[in-house]
Amino acid sequence: PRFWIVVPAAGIGKRMGADIPKQYLEVAGKPVLQHTLERLLSVRRITAVMVALGADDEFWPELPCSREPRVLTTQGGRERADSVLNALTALADRAADGDWVLVHDAARLCITRADVEHLMETLENHPVGGILAVPVTDTLKTVENGAIQGSPDRNRVWRALTPQMFRYRLLKEALAAAAQRGLTVTDEANALELAGLAPEVVEGRPDNIKITRPEDLPLAAFYLERQCFE
Ligand code: CTP
Ligand code: MG
Repeated sequence: PRFWIVVPAAGIGKRMGADIPKQYLEVAGKPVLQHTLERLLSVRRITAVMVALGADDEFWPELPCSREPRVLTTQGGRERADSVLNALTALADRAADGDWVLVHDAARLCITRADVEHLMETLENHPVGGILAVPVTDTLKTVENGAIQGSPDRNRVWRALTPQMFRYRLLKEALAAAAQRGLTVTDEANALELAGLAPEVVEGRPDNIKITRPEDLPLAAFYLERQCFE
């Protein structure tokens, strides 16, 4: 089977509150999405990366990676899951049912090649797939109307990261089924869980953060710099 990557990059970055979408903000001298794509393209076994873009995205053509032969584009959708589903549909003529698709957020620029390859190698023979995740370090609380309802066993709770890697057909059908039922899923694994499947977790690096709010920008710059010395 081949390996494809889908990068949802059609968000507007509401929580960031900048005047341009956060995937085009500069960190350490380059747009966020440029960092992300360079890192993904450094993985030799990737056949191509399908990027889902917002309608009339004026920044994309300026991005050096937009001219890479292994980079393809399509239109994004209303929610992240719609963008991913559009990208999977755009791959329909190229991808086989059993091929692998790694979905990776445009906003996770600190992804390392080693983590992507670790995910691929760990799950290569898995029937369904799985995700990069990290065990939580804080104690979590479930809360209703400001009152604590319980504390989930910390050893059993992980934070979901991306890439999330699944068989092409399973992923497409699970996302389509969730959309059909009107369910909002915030990651791919959730769609597969709803379909009754049990994706695996593969421990990733905690510095694989998603740029969400302004304070994440200097943090990402710090992590990128530190990764250079590994
Ligand atoms: N995304 C997408 N299509 C959408 C919404 C989000 O492709 N309709 C992408 C974003 O570009 C981002 C990733 O999904 O790379 C993760 O989403 P998130 O961090 O929520 O980004 P935004 O939706 O842009 O941010 P916000 O929720 O603050 O508006
Ligand atoms: Mg969002």
